[in-house]
Amino acid sequence: MIPLARPTLPKLNSMQKKMQDIFKSGMLTNAKYVAEFEKEAAKFLGVKNTVAVSSGTAALTLVLKCLQLKGEVILPSFTFTSGASALLWCGLTPVFADIDPETFNIDPNSIEKKITKKTSAILATHVFGNPCEVKKIEKIAKKHNLKVIYDAAHAFGSTYKNKSVFNYGDASMVSFTPTKVFTTAEGGLVVVKDKNLVKTLKLGRNNGDSFNRNEEFLGITARMNEFSAILGIEGLKVLKKNLERRMRIINLYKKELNNISGISFQQISPKNFSVYKDFTILVNEKKFGISRDNLLKELLKRKIQTKTYFYPPLHQKKICSKLPKSFLPNTNYISSHIMSLPLYSHMPEKYVKQVCSVIKKFYAKK
Ligand SMILES: Cc1ncc(COP(=O)(O)O)c(C=O)c1O
Repeated sequence: MIPLARPTLPKLNSMQKKMQDIFKSGMLTNAKYVAEFEKEAAKFLGVKNTVAVSSGTAALTLVLKCLQLKGEVILPSFTFTSGASALLWCGLTPVFADIDPETFNIDPNSIEKKITKKTSAILATHVFGNPCEVKKIEKIAKKHNLKVIYDAAHAFGSTYKNKSVFNYGDASMVSFTPTKVFTTAEGGLVVVKDKNLVKTLKLGRNNGDSFNRNEEFLGITARMNEFSAILGIEGLKVLKKNLERRMRIINLYKKELNNISGISFQQISPKNFSVYKDFTILVNEKKFGISRDNLLKELLKRKIQTKTYFYPPLHQKKICSKLPKSFLPNTNYISSHIMSLPLYSHMPEKYVKQVCSVIKKFYAKK
């Protein structure tokens, strides 16, 4: 099987000394490696304040709580479940905006149309690592006095005009599960501008407890553990090299599939850099010859794993069935025509050729 994704890990022996250290001390949580990881992650991203947590969903839930948001939050429907579930957990109402059919990111024009008196924030996803239109979003937020949170689960290392995407918005969060470009096994990170929020988030990840067992507010258990932090510290040291390898694979995919009518790619502005959490193609059945669903079946028959991120989109899911109906034509079209191809930073280039030769074969049959 050619897998969709595999984690690209640091060398095992690079972690050995720190691992021995925690086996000796017995300090598995609430200790120095999480603090070191937070510092190193901030350095890598060129930001000041980071808080490491146990998952991307925990990061998002804590951010929403600590920003004390109320009412409605505008987000794309073309994103991962936790966008909606974290909002619903916090008693907020998700309001879905449509996406741009080329970048797959939330469309600022659609955001403006969804703003009401109850709107308190915009939650925008850098889809597959592609930076959102941060300047336009900032302008809308300023005009309507809204908070901006970026779901940067996919975007660790992405830049908007040479600056890390984590420099924008009131807060951003990341996920470090093994399918991401950089992993701590499970884990997440919050990046915030306001220094005071760091303290609240650190309390929040510890049940609201400042270690005196008289909780300041309702938090959750969402601490990152020391094993994950060590994986993160060592992983950061090899991330730049891994991203370079990843870009070579992306360029090869683009070269192989460039002239196939009916196959198109997510558009990344030349001013920006995407870490490509996924390499996603759009299949136009009329031009290509077979549908997205049939193409993925044919690839699977040949032991090539693909995924339909994000299908179904959030507004079509059971968890959102009680929300008012949304009219999202671009989201509906993109989510039913996209597929993510196998991609990981140490993937052999021959796999790209293998995947593309199957796609080309079906095109030739047209
Ligand atoms: C866009 C997006 N946001 C949030 C998350 C949630 O992250 P986690 O799985 O670490 O909770 C994911 C997970 O893949 C994601 O893709």
